[in-house]
Amino acid sequence: MNHAVVILAAGKGTRMKSARPKVLHPLLGQPMIRYPVQAALASGADRVVVVVGHRAEEVEGALADLPVAFARQTEQLGTAHALMAAREALAGFSGPVLVTSGDTPLVSSATLRALANALKEQGGEGMALLTLTLDDPTGYGRILRDPDGRVRGIVEEKDASPEERGIREVNSGVYAFDRQVWGFLETLENDNAAGEYYLPDVVKRYLEAGLPVAAVPAPDPSELLGANDRAQLAAVEGVLLDRLRHRWMQAGVRMHLPETIYLEPSVRLAPDVVLEPGVVLKGTTEVGEGARIGAYSVVEDSLLAPGAEVRPHSVLTGARLATGAVAGPFARLRPGAELLEGAYVGNFVEVKKSRLGKGVKAGHLAYLGDAEVGEGTNVGAGVITANYDGKQKHRTEIGPRAFIGSNSVLIAPVTIGKEAFVAGGSAINRDVPDGALAIARGRQKVLEGWVWRRREEYRKEREERS
Ligand code: UD1
Ligand code: CA
Repeated sequence: MNHAVVILAAGKGTRMKSARPKVLHPLLGQPMIRYPVQAALASGADRVVVVVGHRAEEVEGALADLPVAFARQTEQLGTAHALMAAREALAGFSGPVLVTSGDTPLVSSATLRALANALKEQGGEGMALLTLTLDDPTGYGRILRDPDGRVRGIVEEKDASPEERGIREVNSGVYAFDRQVWGFLETLENDNAAGEYYLPDVVKRYLEAGLPVAAVPAPDPSELLGANDRAQLAAVEGVLLDRLRHRWMQAGVRMHLPETIYLEPSVRLAPDVVLEPGVVLKGTTEVGEGARIGAYSVVEDSLLAPGAEVRPHSVLTGARLATGAVAGPFARLRPGAELLEGAYVGNFVEVKKSRLGKGVKAGHLAYLGDAEVGEGTNVGAGVITANYDGKQKHRTEIGPRAFIGSNSVLIAPVTIGKEAFVAGGSAINRDVPDGALAIARGRQKVLEGWVWRRREEYRKEREERS
C-alpha cells in the first residue's frame, strides 16, 4: 500500500486581505491549490483528499478535473481539526497519511515521497515532519529540540517565549503520520493563544506514546515557502518563475533580462527563440524555433511559427503567425487573427478573426475584422473594415494583389476582387470586380485664385469702414 495525501485548504487566508480564498490566488495563471494537488497526485498517492471549508464550492470547482476527494470542515477551528475532517474520506485506508497545506504550493512530489520513506525507515511507525531553517522565521512554528538534538515539540509563534522565537528551525507544515494520528487528534486541546486545535501538537502525543518522531531537514528549503500574504505570494511566484526561465534557457531559449520576463508553465518554446525584456507569455502560447518577441509584448494563447517576429509593445491573443510573418511594433492581434508567410502588420493595426494571406502588408493604423485578405494585397493606412451594422457582424473578402488606398472604409458585407484598386478615402459598400478601380468619395473641386480674391474683398471692406 502506498500513502494517502491530505491537503489542508479550508482556511480563509485573512492575511491576504482579499475577497478571494487564499488557495485560489493564481500563481502563474493557475489557482495556488492546483500545485500541491498535482504534486500529491504525482507522488504516487493512493488517495488524495482536499479539506475545504471557506468558499468550499469554489475551491472544489478549481479542482473539478482532478481525481481527488473532498472533505468539508464547516468551521475552521485549526489545522488539527481540519485533518480530523478528512478521517471519513480515508476510512478503510491504513497506510501512512501525508499532510500538506494548500498554501505551501512548491512542495514537490519527490519531497513528499522522501517524507513517506522517512516514515518507512521507522518501520512505518510514528511520524515524520519536514523542517527548514530560515534567516527570518517570523510566522512559522518553531521546532523545539532537546540538548541531544531530539525533537521535543513545536511551538507556534503566538505562543512562543522570546527565546523560543529566536529559534530559526521551523515547521514546514508537511508531515507523514501512521494510522494512530486519528486517535491522537481527538485528544488535543485548544488552550493556546489562537484558541485553535494545532496539528503540530500531535508531536507531543507521539512522543508521550514513545513513538518515533523524525524531523527531516528539507532537501530544498525554497519548496516550503508558505504563501500567507501578498509578499509571500509574490516570493513563491518568483521561485516558480526562476525555475521555469531556467528550464527554458537550458533548452536553448535566449532571454534578455530574464528576471523581467513572465511566462506560464503551459507555454512552449523552441530553441533559439529570443525574448526581449518585459515579455509576457501566457496560456497555450507556442513559439517556434528562432522566432523573436520584442520588448513589453503580451502574447496569450497564440502560435508563432519558426522565424515569426513580434515587435515591441504588441498584444496578441489567440493569434497565429506563420514563418516570416511580422507584427508590430504596437500591433494588436485578437482571436482568430492569422498572418500567413511573410505577412506584415505594423503599428496601431488591429486584426480580429481575419486571415492575411502571404505577403499582405497592413503597415499603419488599420482595423481588419472578419476579413479574408488575399496574397500580396496592400492595405493602406487608416483602412477600416466596417464589419458591424449595430446588430450583426459581416465579412469582407479582398482578393489577391489588391490595393486598398489609405483611409478607405470597406462596409461589409463586401467583396473586393483580385488586383482591384480602391482609391484612397473611399467608402465602399458595393462589390468591386477583379482588376477594377473604385473611387467612392466626393469629387474634388478646385477654385483657381479663390484665396487671393477673398483677401482682396476683405481689404476693401476694411477700407470702407475706416
Ligand atoms: C502552520 C503551522 C506552523 C507551520 C506553518 C508552515 C499550525 C497551527 N501551524 O502555520 O507550525 O510553521 O503552517 O507553513 O498548523 N487550515 C484549515 N482549517 C483550519 C485552519 C487552517 O484547513 O481550521 C488550512 C489553511 O487553509 C492552510 C493550512 O491549513 O492551507 C495552514 O494553516 P495556516 O493558518 O496558514 O497556518 P500557519 O499559520 O501558516
Ligand atoms: Ca500557512
